[in-house]
Amino acid sequence: MVAAAVRASAPGKVILFGEHAVVFGEPAVALAVDLWTVVSATPAGVNTIDHTTLDAALWPYLAAAVRAVAGLGPVDLHVESQIPMAVGLGSSAAVTVATLGALRHLQGAFDPPAIARLAFEVEHEVQGRASPIDTSTAAHGGAILVDRRRHRGFLWRIEKGDRRWNIHDLYAPDLTLVLGNTGVRAGTGALVAKVKQQVEADPIAQKAIRRIGEVTREGVEALMAGDLARVGRLMIEDHRLLNTLGVGHPMLDRLVEAALPHSYGAKLTGAGAGGNMVALSDDPEAAAKAIAAAGGETLTVRLSRQGVHVET
Ligand code: MEV
Repeated sequence: MVAAAVRASAPGKVILFGEHAVVFGEPAVALAVDLWTVVSATPAGVNTIDHTTLDAALWPYLAAAVRAVAGLGPVDLHVESQIPMAVGLGSSAAVTVATLGALRHLQGAFDPPAIARLAFEVEHEVQGRASPIDTSTAAHGGAILVDRRRHRGFLWRIEKGDRRWNIHDLYAPDLTLVLGNTGVRAGTGALVAKVKQQVEADPIAQKAIRRIGEVTREGVEALMAGDLARVGRLMIEDHRLLNTLGVGHPMLDRLVEAALPHSYGAKLTGAGAGGNMVALSDDPEAAAKAIAAAGGETLTVRLSRQGVHVET
């Protein structure tokens, strides 16, 4: 008898406020979006991907996820993804969370908080210093607030050394977002390490991190009030602060500028130095056209209320 495959899906994400500052304990807000990674896992004789040896150098997140699930026999994995890779949309978190979702389901232990914790450990191992924002958003879906402090909507807590993050489900209205891909890829791990060095050496960078924290808190209020004009103004300020931290890119500025006449606000999203910008717009078609005319590859996405799940 051929063993049945388990298919687990996890969404990509867009960070609306607080990337980089979240690594230093400031709050951040991310939205799960309707771009999906689907991982199928089938019990097998050895760990493979599409029946070929699972090489950790080629598939670091998959290999680390398989190692992280204790007590499960070998599996054959198959991955399908709609999430563009290494451009700030949470592709590695989604593949990690979907893999862990499938493996834990095979064990009879599918549990999003446990998957979020394991996925954070995997991302930390592979990427280096990180916050749990991407992995927790892929695990839960919807709008996620990560904060040192605990608020209403608390979901789970994640700790690493002396750092701790409380993960919350945040109210957000239905949102349509226009993404503009610069086509420039940059590694998250290296950028996080670069910002750490800068923050240790430069009081201006320290101030920018603290101000990003304030902007995020104001952004949470604005989101909860459904005040998209204020959300947009704060996105623009966040973009400027991220430029101060050295994670901007001329192409990101160009795409943000192009989107603004048709948007409440726009900013880079994710680790930066390339990757994607995001615009919050009540005229997504016009915003997408303007971004495309400025040289960006566009995608229009919606907030996804769903996180990791198994298709039965
Ligand atoms: C990457 O999507 C977000 C960063 O803040 C890194 C992290 O939180 O792990 C840049």
